[in-house]
Amino acid sequence: MEILRKAVVVLGMLWVCAAVAQKQPNVPPEYEREGGPYVPTPNVVVERMLGMANVGERDHVIDLGSGDGIIVLTAAHQRKSSGYGVDIDEELIRLSNLRAKSLGLSGRVRFEARDIFKTDVSKATVVTLYLLPEFMQRLRPKLFNELQPGTRIVSHDYHFEEWQHDAQTSFEVPEKELVTGVPSATLYLWIVPAKISGAWRMQLDGNAEYRLTLQQRYQNFEGTAEVKGRQAALISPKINGKDIRFVLVHDNRRGEFSGRVEGDRIEGTVDYGEGKPVRWRASRSS
Ligand SMILES: C[S@@+](CC[C@H](N)C(=O)[O-])C[C@H]1O[C@@H](n2cnc3c(N)ncnc32)[C@H](O)[C@@H]1O
Repeated sequence: MEILRKAVVVLGMLWVCAAVAQKQPNVPPEYEREGGPYVPTPNVVVERMLGMANVGERDHVIDLGSGDGIIVLTAAHQRKSSGYGVDIDEELIRLSNLRAKSLGLSGRVRFEARDIFKTDVSKATVVTLYLLPEFMQRLRPKLFNELQPGTRIVSHDYHFEEWQHDAQTSFEVPEKELVTGVPSATLYLWIVPAKISGAWRMQLDGNAEYRLTLQQRYQNFEGTAEVKGRQAALISPKINGKDIRFVLVHDNRRGEFSGRVEGDRIEGTVDYGEGKPVRWRASRSS
């Protein structure tokens, strides 16, 4: 049923693509609209996307394939964020910049005619997407590797397959039926995790040095801690943006570790349930 629903949505978008291709000769010949045709996200869905990403005035929202600019403009207008949109359609970019000017938002938002794959995304704190499934899979490594840890990604209707989303919501949107054939929307949220794979030296206040070995797959990881030749597996490991948690049983004590990853360093506390938490830190050794 889910597969059928997705097939209908994709077919709907491709149909729109064919229909609008002749009317929109605004894409330079060297580019292809591979991410999908211009199909605007309805206002009600835009608002839910911004809510799901919890956009606020300190955010910088980048919409990849920004269409008429609705997501970046709504974020700037309603939630006071700054923003940037790129689209290969020069006419849509011209209209987006005009709308930004008429709304008095030109100081905070900007739109540029640019291919998504040639876009610097590193300054985003929130990325929004409404792009075809195959394009999403090609985009996945770029976003995973280039976005800062903690950046939220929200996508309308399509997901990243093997990079599991952190949250999902579906709701009815009757006005979408005419365009995509499906009167509903599904939103997916990811929080970009810090990169932690590798070997780390971990030090606990007043204790021996541990060697941590971590293997990460997107926001999931597993690992072991080794001290004095003895190894223990990390229990319930979790990474959410820069925040890392795991449980480790060592020296017959059960410690709940939490910490914050900053590049090649992690600092945090471990709680043994015996009073004051103990500080720990780790630095990458390979
Ligand atoms: C489905 S629309 C989404 C518009 C807007 N983000 C929204 O949700 O209302 C997809 C947009 O992506 C643009 N696009 C497709 N491929 C692209 C590419 N390779 N680089 C930049 N923009 C692209 C299209 O021109 C179109 O405007």
